Amino acid sequence: MSSAPTAVAGTGPRRGEPLPHDLLDDAERLTREQLRELQLDRLRATLRYAYDSVEPYRKKFDEAGVAPDDCRSLEDLSRFPFTTKADLRDTYPYGMFAVPMSEVRRVHASSGTTGRPTVVGYTENDISMWADVVARSIRAAGGRRGHKVHISYGYGLFTGGLGAHYGAERAGCTVIPASGGMTARQVQIIQDFKPEIIMVTPSYMLTLLDEFEKQGIDPRTSSLKVGIFGAEPWTEEMRHEIEGRMDIHAVDIYGLSEVIGPGVAQECVETKDGLHVWEDHFYPEVVDPVTDEVLAEGEEGEVVFTSLTKEALPVIRYRTRDLTRLLPGTARPAFRRIQKITGRCDDMIILRGVNVFPSQIEEIVLRTPGVAPHFQVQLTRRGRMDHMTVRVEARPGTGTEQRETAARAIAQSVKDGVGITVDVAVVDPETLERSLGKLRRVKDLRQQ
Ligand code: DLL
Repeated sequence: MSSAPTAVAGTGPRRGEPLPHDLLDDAERLTREQLRELQLDRLRATLRYAYDSVEPYRKKFDEAGVAPDDCRSLEDLSRFPFTTKADLRDTYPYGMFAVPMSEVRRVHASSGTTGRPTVVGYTENDISMWADVVARSIRAAGGRRGHKVHISYGYGLFTGGLGAHYGAERAGCTVIPASGGMTARQVQIIQDFKPEIIMVTPSYMLTLLDEFEKQGIDPRTSSLKVGIFGAEPWTEEMRHEIEGRMDIHAVDIYGLSEVIGPGVAQECVETKDGLHVWEDHFYPEVVDPVTDEVLAEGEEGEVVFTSLTKEALPVIRYRTRDLTRLLPGTARPAFRRIQKITGRCDDMIILRGVNVFPSQIEEIVLRTPGVAPHFQVQLTRRGRMDHMTVRVEARPGTGTEQRETAARAIAQSVKDGVGITVDVAVVDPETLERSLGKLRRVKDLRQQ
């Protein structure tokens, strides 16, 4: 990225510089055909390896009546059984590891809202492959050797911090390992250390932006040029909000612990048109979440991944619960893209028979003048009916009349666009909970 992007309101997403050809890595130079050949070799080896080394896989394959050698084409993968979070929970903590613990260099865990966390493990090669895919993601986002990368993803059992960290080092960047929290200090560090890149959840980026403004600093004057945002769903409207307020390129990074962590897929800064899946390591399928059937390219469903090179924790057809569609490659023609994740099957709210995702509410709130991008969805019960209230903060200085207009506009847009009736409360600035990492948008009070 040679120069700072210039923000022009209302001109749609701005594009960054494409990666010069000589900075592509070997896999990025493959043709689609060559990539598919590599995938088939790796897939067959992974199925054999999982069957031979992980008892739960052997049992599942045997029960389904399939053997590793039954996979003769990439399409044959659909004959193999799925793996779910429950499989990992049932074998907690290490029951699905394929190597002895002496080969496991690191574990991470995802917190999980209920029950036991899921534990994931990495060999030395796994950690190195992970650094490679995150480094590739950072380059796709516009990061280059010599850039300073401020990492505000949490360091710890969460894969965000350390995953980004090793990738940024592998990309030849200088890491500023800020981790999450201590928001005022983060702003100070950004001002003093002058990073070009920030890696953080989009909701915490909003918290940081507010802090810049609170300290009387125009965020557009900061050194940052690119934000690599992920770990939670975010919309195009949020991209415009952040790019407009900070004069940076906002690009999307996707991943999940069970598959590796951040760096499963990445949006390229020159196209900003969905995320290229790093298919040389993670083979994607999209399935119907109800019938389990594999869907054609372009159809929306749950994305499922099979690891192609992992050693400590190979995953076969891992059900992510994340909803998206597969699209052909653009900026990296050999790699298919996934569309920006619209939500998780688990986040879907069914209100009086209508399916609603928090991202639909986000789109509407961010398009409405007078309100800030901070909102919360509350679910309550009134008699025997479920009810939704959207609580959203007013922008500072917004008067009563303008707040009422905004509330009416949001309620009307939700009714027209989503098909449900909601209450909207426009509350005072700085009264809703702020994100320190992954934000929970939905507060379910129906049991109380
Ligand atoms: O959130 C890994 C990660 C860290 C990705 C930092 C990107 C940046 P988990 O804690 O296991 O891992 O949570 C994975 O988060 O199944 C999605 O539901 C959600 N998620 C991750 N990235 C995105 C994204 C990390 N870009 C779960 N858009 C996934 C939407 C995302 N949802």
